[in-house]
Amino acid sequence: MITTKDLTKVYRSRGRDVLALDSVDLHVQEGEVFGVVGTSGAGKSTLIRCVNLLERPTSGTVTVDGVELTALSGSEQRAGRELREARRRIGMVFQHFNLLSSRTVQQNVELPLEIIGLDRHDRRRKAAELLDLVGLADKAGSYPGQLSGGQKQRVGIARALAGDPKVLLSDEATSALDPETTRSILQLLRDLNQQLGLTVLLITHEMDVIKSVCDSAALMRGGKVVESGRLTDLLADGHSRIARDLFPLGDFGSGQADRTVLEITFQGDAPAQPFVSQLARTYQIDINILGAAVETIAGRLVGRMRVELPGSHTDNVVPIGYLRQQGLQVDVLDLSNGVAA
Ligand SMILES: Nc1ncnc2c1ncn2[C@@H]1O[C@H](COP(=O)(O)OP(=O)(O)OP(=O)(O)O)[C@@H](O)[C@H]1O
Ligand SMILES: [Mg+2]
Repeated sequence: MITTKDLTKVYRSRGRDVLALDSVDLHVQEGEVFGVVGTSGAGKSTLIRCVNLLERPTSGTVTVDGVELTALSGSEQRAGRELREARRRIGMVFQHFNLLSSRTVQQNVELPLEIIGLDRHDRRRKAAELLDLVGLADKAGSYPGQLSGGQKQRVGIARALAGDPKVLLSDEATSALDPETTRSILQLLRDLNQQLGLTVLLITHEMDVIKSVCDSAALMRGGKVVESGRLTDLLADGHSRIARDLFPLGDFGSGQADRTVLEITFQGDAPAQPFVSQLARTYQIDINILGAAVETIAGRLVGRMRVELPGSHTDNVVPIGYLRQQGLQVDVLDLSNGVAA
């Protein structure tokens, strides 16, 4: 649904070039919620602004719903019209809502409909439908200043849906909200994704957001996408940084030399069996549990556990094989740098 190829953006600021996007290849499937994470300055906002061409990429291509936006130059009249048309099919939600304070909620939602030239009657009807969809039918006559942050964001979302978009882009839509309100807005995005088949590309710096609504995620660093994929696949990959951030399991154990630290991941219908006690009994070993968590990620139950076994990796080949036979994913940590060996 959204594909970027070799997308590069260089900003020229005070005579210096800033490489904000460095050859980014992103692939967002139709109907999924895709999250982009990364530290401040990683290029997340630049990426999302290049996807709807709010920002012109320096090179590379952006294709949304089969239309290569980067091929439609804004200057030529026909292409300009095509670009406006294509952009209308992309809704955008902002961190600070960007509502007009002098207009009522209803009038804010009507704004994009005015721009496309819908008549008054149709505008009213459409805006009322959208406000109903986001649960704000009773606030149509209020002004933004009279709303809570969560309600303002609902207005922002209703406005973003005015052009019947197939894609919704969201840049830190919940960052200005408290945890409770964040949950309700994320739930709304999930509902819209499911009810309308809306593809959602969202940016966040919170792993909790990824955990609760995303099907897929990408990690950005220094203008590059360093990792991306479906969460269920990333969780099955012992080297995944995203999986590690989704499941911070704390420290790496006793610090003794002769030991083996394992990370055990179980997903979906992998049996919630008492494998720790089975292992201890079968092989007569003492198992030290360093950390454990069970979470629902991308709608699936996923558990992760870090355990420490006495002896070296070679000493533990048989118990590790036993765990893998039980359908568990087992990664042996390389203790020098905390990644799977
Ligand atoms: N208009 C601009 N002019 C010059 N440099 C810019 C401009 N916008 C962004 N940058 C630079 O591009 C890089 C990426 O910025 P971007 O806003 O995409 O990061 P981000 O990942 O969204 O960060 P944050 O999490 O803080 O929002 C940064 O180094 C930033 O300083
Ligand atoms: Mg940003």
